[in-house]
Amino acid sequence: MKIDILTLFPNMFDGVFTESIIKRACELGKVEINLINFRDFTKDPHNKVDDTPYGGGAGMVLMAQPIFDCVKSLKTDDSKVILLTPSGIKYKQEIAYDLKNEKHLIIICGHYEGFDERIKSICDLELSIGDYVLTGGEIPAMVLVDSITRLLDGVITSESHINDSFNNNLLDYPSYTKPRVYEGMEVPEVLLSGNHKKIDEYRHQEQIRITKENRPDLLDE
Ligand code: ADE
Repeated sequence: MKIDILTLFPNMFDGVFTESIIKRACELGKVEINLINFRDFTKDPHNKVDDTPYGGGAGMVLMAQPIFDCVKSLKTDDSKVILLTPSGIKYKQEIAYDLKNEKHLIIICGHYEGFDERIKSICDLELSIGDYVLTGGEIPAMVLVDSITRLLDGVITSESHINDSFNNNLLDYPSYTKPRVYEGMEVPEVLLSGNHKKIDEYRHQEQIRITKENRPDLLDE
C-alpha cells in the first residue's frame, strides 16, 4: 500500500513512522509512506497557503489551489482521497479494515481554522478521529496510518488482531503475564487451568462485562 500524506508540518511525523511496527512495515515493503508539503504547490508569490475567511470570522482558512494541485499530481485511478476534519464521519476499526484493502491513500491534513469548502469536491471520504478538536490533521493522520498498517498482511500475525477491541463490537479481554501473584493480586485460576474451552468462555464473558461497563453503546450497535 502507498500512503501520501499532505501536510504543512512533515517534521511532526518524525519518530512515529521511524520506530517499531510501522518502521518494520516500511522496511518489509508492506507500506510506502510519503510526506508531502503542499506549500511546495502554492502559486502565491509569497508562498501563502491560507487566507482570511469570506464573510469574516477568526483565523485563517487553507486555500483550495495548493491542495488541488498537490492532489492532482498524485492521484491515479487507484487512489482514495481522505480529508481529516472534526466534521467528518467518526473513524472506527471497521473503516480501518475497509481502508487496508486500498492500493493508494492520499490523506489531507487540515490546519488552522479550517479549509476552503471546495477542497471537499476532490475527496472521497471525510474522517474525524473523535469528538474533540485538534490543532490539525497530523495526529489524526498518524492514527489512521498506524491503525491501517498493523492490519496489512504480514505486518503482525493475524492472530494478534483477531481479538482486538472492537471486533464483534466487543472490547478486548484482560491479559496477564508472570508473576502469578503481584502485590497480592492473583492471576485468575482459569487461565492456569490449561482448559482452553473454559479459558475461551471466561475471556468472552470478560469481554461482555468490560464492554457493558465501559462502552455500553457498542452493545446497542
Ligand atoms: N482535525 C482537527 N481535529 C480533528 C479530529 N478530531 N479528527 C480529524 N481531524 C481533525
